Amino acid sequence: MFNKLRNKLLVLNLSITSGVLAAAFAFVYFITYSGVQSEIRSRLGSQPETQIRLESGAPGVGEQGERSVTRTTSGYAAGDGANVFHIEVDADGNMLNVDSLVDLPDEAYRLAAESAWRNKDGRHAIALNGRQWRYGIAPIQVQIVREDGVPVVVDENKYSITFLDVTETNRTLVQLLTSLLLVGFATLIVIVIVSLYFANRAIKPIREAWDKQKQFVTDASHELKTPLSIIHANCDALEANRDDTIRNQMKWLGYIRIGTDRMAKLVNDMLTLAKTEDARSIVRKVPVHVSKEVEDAIRSMEAAAALKRIRLTRSIEPNIVANGEPDCIRQIVAILFDNAIKYADSEGWIEMSLVRKNRHVTFTISNSGPGIAGQDVPKVFDRFFRADRSRTHADGSYGLGLSIAKSIVDRLGGEIRVSSIENEFTTFSFTIEL
Ligand SMILES: Nc1ncnc2c1ncn2[C@@H]1O[C@H](COP(=O)(O)OP(=O)(O)O)[C@@H](O)[C@H]1O
Ligand SMILES: [Mg+2]
Repeated sequence: MFNKLRNKLLVLNLSITSGVLAAAFAFVYFITYSGVQSEIRSRLGSQPETQIRLESGAPGVGEQGERSVTRTTSGYAAGDGANVFHIEVDADGNMLNVDSLVDLPDEAYRLAAESAWRNKDGRHAIALNGRQWRYGIAPIQVQIVREDGVPVVVDENKYSITFLDVTETNRTLVQLLTSLLLVGFATLIVIVIVSLYFANRAIKPIREAWDKQKQFVTDASHELKTPLSIIHANCDALEANRDDTIRNQMKWLGYIRIGTDRMAKLVNDMLTLAKTEDARSIVRKVPVHVSKEVEDAIRSMEAAAALKRIRLTRSIEPNIVANGEPDCIRQIVAILFDNAIKYADSEGWIEMSLVRKNRHVTFTISNSGPGIAGQDVPKVFDRFFRADRSRTHADGSYGLGLSIAKSIVDRLGGEIRVSSIENEFTTFSFTIEL
């Protein structure tokens, strides 16, 4: 069940992160790609190219006969050193003139003009001499300047094809794509590992709580079985003597009462625990007279200590008031004092103290006796934990007392501690904020 939950978390996490990652990378690539494309387009521009010629027909300033002065709108030579050349063609695509600083064989120029003329849209690059070229076709307008200085525009049905070397640009784009894919892949692997770690961490407390809950149900049912079987057996005894009077059967009825009393105690303890551990219930703090509640709790149980002839010493600082829930201090002290009496050796001792220090109040209770074995110390606050499992339930030892005490202290935001020296003494203490 938990592995399924973990895998679900993992898949969810992965699909969200990889989706975001893919979108971000696609965006980066798209922005770069369209930037590059628009730069190529602007360099190859399709506006008409203008040639200016003097009316006399004599060549002007320039190196190639009639193309005396050429002003290109597409950037004649690429400023960044990229290769560019121009081919002038007639209306049928026949090459008329080449204007190039690039060292290419004549055949290459002819081929270039032919392929460009075949696919006039110029959306795809052509391969020439092992390099990639993009091209743009623009009509040539000839402006004849008459002797009186008035220019006349003549359309001679000629076109100029500009070729731009895009080999490096394409390579850069491919490199960018590969880097993005590699980075994406590496990031995805890292995300898988990190997600797996966090999914396991997220599941851990749920799994622990689940196991604890399951253990609680098992233990509770187990503990309830004993009083139930007592009741059952005594009912059988009553039924076997059905003609006898109730007075004569008081013995069986007495056992049944013991069974129901124990069940009532167990159910009460479980309810208290469920209530104090209920995370939804709000802690309503009110001023609590700690000293008074401690004194009351001790007084109500002094007789039990006296029965065991336990020597009792106490030092309770008076008039301490703290914020807490009504009766909470009385409950914790009763649980700890009850344990101290129960687990102290007869004619032993119990010492209690209540002190205020800075903004805290601490109650400490120690008792002589066999103490708690080292390996059991961390378990004493667990539900249903009893160091001595064979102990009868006659004294109400279900191992829930300390769990209740701890959950009350936790609710108050305090801390409860235990220390024990085997065959000497055991000390419990709790601290809460004033
Ligand atoms: N003062 C103490 N001295 C020695 N052992 C103790 C003391 N208090 C608690 N313990 C040990 O911790 C266990 C759990 O205590 P608790 O939760 O109060 O359950 P219970 O009192 O019903 O046994 C006890 O069974 C006992 O083994
Ligand atoms: Mg107890």
